[in-house]
Amino acid sequence: MLDISIDPDQPAAELYADLTSFATALVDGEPDAIANMANIAALIWQYVPGLNWAGFYRVIDEELVLGPFQGKTACIRIAIGAGVCGTAVATGEVQRVADVHAFPGHIACDADSRSELVVPVLKDDKVIAVLDLDSPRPDRFGVEDEAGMVRLIGAIANALG
Ligand code: SME
Repeated sequence: MLDISIDPDQPAAELYADLTSFATALVDGEPDAIANMANIAALIWQYVPGLNWAGFYRVIDEELVLGPFQGKTACIRIAIGAGVCGTAVATGEVQRVADVHAFPGHIACDADSRSELVVPVLKDDKVIAVLDLDSPRPDRFGVEDEAGMVRLIGAIANALG
């Protein structure tokens, strides 16, 4: 097993550089997308401070289906275009939401969630899944979190589908 040592309190740029290296090493040589999503959700959950949910939804037959995650039990199916996750798939764009209560159609799986970051996972130019991060802190996710997570997911996207 990989020996992972990451300081969760270091500046965001360094934290995401470390996370990306360990994420790349974790999925190296493993073709099973579900196993890889499970380990990446666990890695993020353990080392990114201030989260109450971290995991994946997969695009299956034109809807989003719950994938590997850490946190409270969650909605299983989300229509493309619905909520923050469905909007990320419909637009193909990252959704960084400072206040989920102000996002039209936000789906509250955990009533504690106040802010959210959703990153599309692209393979062959198609959105095959999303990484969804929730925080109980309003405005938890800044531009560095967005850039860091986009880089991390971009580095391992081929191992997630
Ligand atoms: N809040 C999401 C639903 C998924 S849960 O947060 C885990 C949304 O609005 O799409």
